[in-house]
Amino acid sequence: MVDVLLGLQWGDEGKGKIVDYFAPNYDVIARFQGGPNAGHTLYVNEKKVVLHQIPSGIFHENTVNLIGNGVVLDPVTLKRECETVKAFGIDYRKNLFISERTHLILPTHRALDKASELSKGNDKIGSTLKGIGPAYMDKTGRNGLRVGDLLDKSFTTQYIRLRLKHQKMLDSLNFHEDITAWEEEFFEALEFMKEFKIVNGEYFINEKISQGKKVLAEGAQGSMLDVDFGTFPFVTSSNTISAGVCTGLGVAPQKIKDVIGVTKAYCTRVGSGPFPTELHDETGEELRRIGNEFGATTGRPRRCGWIDLVALNFACMINGVTKLVMTKADVLDAFDELKVCTSYMVNGKSSKEIPFQMTRVSITPELKSFKGWKTATDKFRTSGELPGTMKEYVSFINSYLGVNINYISNGPGREQLIEIQ
Ligand code: GDP
Ligand code: IMO
Ligand code: MG
Repeated sequence: MVDVLLGLQWGDEGKGKIVDYFAPNYDVIARFQGGPNAGHTLYVNEKKVVLHQIPSGIFHENTVNLIGNGVVLDPVTLKRECETVKAFGIDYRKNLFISERTHLILPTHRALDKASELSKGNDKIGSTLKGIGPAYMDKTGRNGLRVGDLLDKSFTTQYIRLRLKHQKMLDSLNFHEDITAWEEEFFEALEFMKEFKIVNGEYFINEKISQGKKVLAEGAQGSMLDVDFGTFPFVTSSNTISAGVCTGLGVAPQKIKDVIGVTKAYCTRVGSGPFPTELHDETGEELRRIGNEFGATTGRPRRCGWIDLVALNFACMINGVTKLVMTKADVLDAFDELKVCTSYMVNGKSSKEIPFQMTRVSITPELKSFKGWKTATDKFRTSGELPGTMKEYVSFINSYLGVNINYISNGPGREQLIEIQ
């Protein structure tokens, strides 16, 4: 069977840490969408590692890691990341597999991403500029190059043809960038990639499933960044939700068992776009400071606000969430008062639904207050130790969402995760 672990907000919920924690319970960890726009932070032997392309199970000796067909892969980032992983004594060649249908991110995709953002001016998405949008456009536009093409004699010809097409697009946007150095790195990284285990991902994973192996599909980004159901157009270019697992790995829906949704105890967003519970005051700054809310991929400060139950409820519905993990609960330790958003006032009307176009309506969050627990919780290891005020906060969220928080994360470390009895 396949379990799914994904983010329910706008990304950076702490998915990497949670996947790393659960990895020993699984035989395979598979990424099904996204690319190096992701930044998943884990601590290995108390050292911080940020993974962008490699699944977060790589530090476990007996776990197989698969980069699925739904991912867009930047060979340069992959090569760099393999070197990082190797420095931890990990033999990535043993446990890392790549699907032959995975689309490649080319240097010109990165240039096109920049050109597209520049052309949007004030309406820019706030993209990570890793070439994600253009690479997915070439996939749906039926132009892209895939990992399996690398082994084909015509690869260079196909590459030159696509590069020319991209150059014309860049010229039409009046965007000039010297990509010679990127291209050199790119071709070096392609040679490096040829030594990998490039597999037919769909047979690979279905064989594992029929052998009774346990698979965990690791999501990137968050549900509110989903290209269909997120805050369009301020989204990423893939299906970040559980449905993306079927197309991004080639597994049938009835193979999916648990959908584990990860949410912060508050909320953050990096990049542009609507964020109803965003705080523009000192409280928002405190959340950023205590939570160290700076992007793992771009270093940009993350926008911070209270937890948004309207958006979370929507994400639980779309994903079919069966279990919840609440991260960064310790960040709220110092606050006297906490707030949760229970409905939106949309053009003067109270609603518990996500509007079609969040940017075109005026949304005021309706907030319910809770007393803060004012206790240092980061050393707690059992649910019995948690303060009563935290339990009240958690139980309100559980009853609002109709799904239970099964784990509370109270620090970035592997050991800082409490199972709720
Ligand atoms: P991801 O993209 O969902 O994997 O999340 P990121 O790695 O981008 O961002 C999460 C950040 O929060 C990282 O710096 C983690 O080390 C950190 N983190 C994860 N869980 C906790 C937690 O429970 N408490 C605190 N204080 N930090 C956490
Ligand atoms: P993880 O997996 C947070 C955001 C970008 C931007 C929008 C589109 O670490 O949670 P893109 O580069 O995809 O064209 O950017 O999506 N974004 C993320 N925000 N965490 C991420 O990944 C993100 N990946 C993309 O900031 O607003
Ligand atoms: Mg991240």
